[in-house]
Amino acid sequence: MRDFTYYAPTEVAFGAKSEERIGALAVKYGAKRVLVHYGGQSAERSGLLGVVRKQLQEAGVAFFELGGVVPNPRVSKVREGIEICRREAIDMVLAVGGGSVIDSAKAIAFGAHYEGDVWDFFLGKAKAGECLKVATVLTIPAAGSEMSDGCVVTNEDGWHKRGYSTNKTRCCFAVMNPERTYTLPAYQTACGIVDIMMHTMERYFSLEDDMALTDNIAEAVLRTVLDWGPVAMREPENYRARAQVMWAGSLAHNDLTGCGTLGDWATHHLEHELSALFDVAHGAGLAAVWGSWARYVKGERLSRFVRFAVNVMGVENDFVDPERTALKGIERMEAFYRSIGMPTSIPELIGRPVTEEEVLTMADKCCRQDTHTEGNFKVLYRKEMEDVYRLANK
Ligand code: NZQ
Ligand code: ZN
Repeated sequence: MRDFTYYAPTEVAFGAKSEERIGALAVKYGAKRVLVHYGGQSAERSGLLGVVRKQLQEAGVAFFELGGVVPNPRVSKVREGIEICRREAIDMVLAVGGGSVIDSAKAIAFGAHYEGDVWDFFLGKAKAGECLKVATVLTIPAAGSEMSDGCVVTNEDGWHKRGYSTNKTRCCFAVMNPERTYTLPAYQTACGIVDIMMHTMERYFSLEDDMALTDNIAEAVLRTVLDWGPVAMREPENYRARAQVMWAGSLAHNDLTGCGTLGDWATHHLEHELSALFDVAHGAGLAAVWGSWARYVKGERLSRFVRFAVNVMGVENDFVDPERTALKGIERMEAFYRSIGMPTSIPELIGRPVTEEEVLTMADKCCRQDTHTEGNFKVLYRKEMEDVYRLANK
């Protein structure tokens, strides 16, 4: 087991009445002038923005607003937010939405006090110094950004999707009312289910074999989502099901399922090139490449895939043929993805196979022109990245 630091400073207000605490939480964390940041229409339509405004007004907190964050959030919107924060002396960015809105809020928060261009952080040219505070009212369980240190933004200039991580913009509080996820379209619910499972699996497929507690927690998160995700899709207003999925989303990405392991993350970064190029939903992109990645790398430590097949996917262990057991686990996972309407190949994801030129472009961007590898379970160089894209292209 590796040494680790577990840092999860976010105060979580979870439940049907949690929204009544927004104003008090903003005051508790020192907010005087807030930028309320949100996406397209969902938070306005559901009345949630109205609740947020009322809460801030009653708490005596001044606020400004910036909507229009799109899925795969753009750096141009971040720059707009930074301008407002500087002009209006904002001290907290309150993200009302999902991963895209929270990530945009985080980038605004570390960009506001930085003199150069915010994209520098994503190029590795800048490190977060003084930051604005970030908090969220979450509307979609998926990306886990409400408790993670991560932030992923897309630069329209060249369509580069890049991440930057810092503890300094972890949310100080996250308000999570499962009822707010009732309005999620089935497709977005399914994308969230995949992303939550993938955040757990990226950490689970590790070459460390001696972190029993972490493995057991990870398997419990995965089984919970396998059981309750489909219920949430069938019965969108089932509070119990929505609550299981929502809390799983946070636990899957606040590092609890990664204590003592070295995560892989290749599937995520291969996917980021797909969503950068084709503007697809992150969760759907993950489902489209995971099975191909798994078949490609399973031989590095077959026992992990056997354990996953037996403990998570309920496969009977074939002691004579462990490879068969491992493959059945991968197949069952893919069958689950299909059962919730998710693609398991790139053609299913974007409606056509990618061209060989597109394969080369994605691999080139993913390996940053041969300056970067991906994955720890198996290290992927440019050629291996191309191989996985080609496998997923069938
Ligand atoms: O824009 P609106 O109208 O709000 O619609 C959104 C959006 O179209 C809709 N939605 C959200 N809540 C809703 C709702 N519709 C109805 N009812 C509700 N309650 O859902 C759509 C998707 O929203 P988005 O925020 O894009 O989803 P998600 O939370 O999956 O975030 C995806 C982004 O997060 C990044 C992804 O790459 C992607 O850019 N990630 C961020 C991570 C992090 N910061 O730690 C880690 C992840 O691995 C991931 O990379
Ligand atoms: Zn993800």
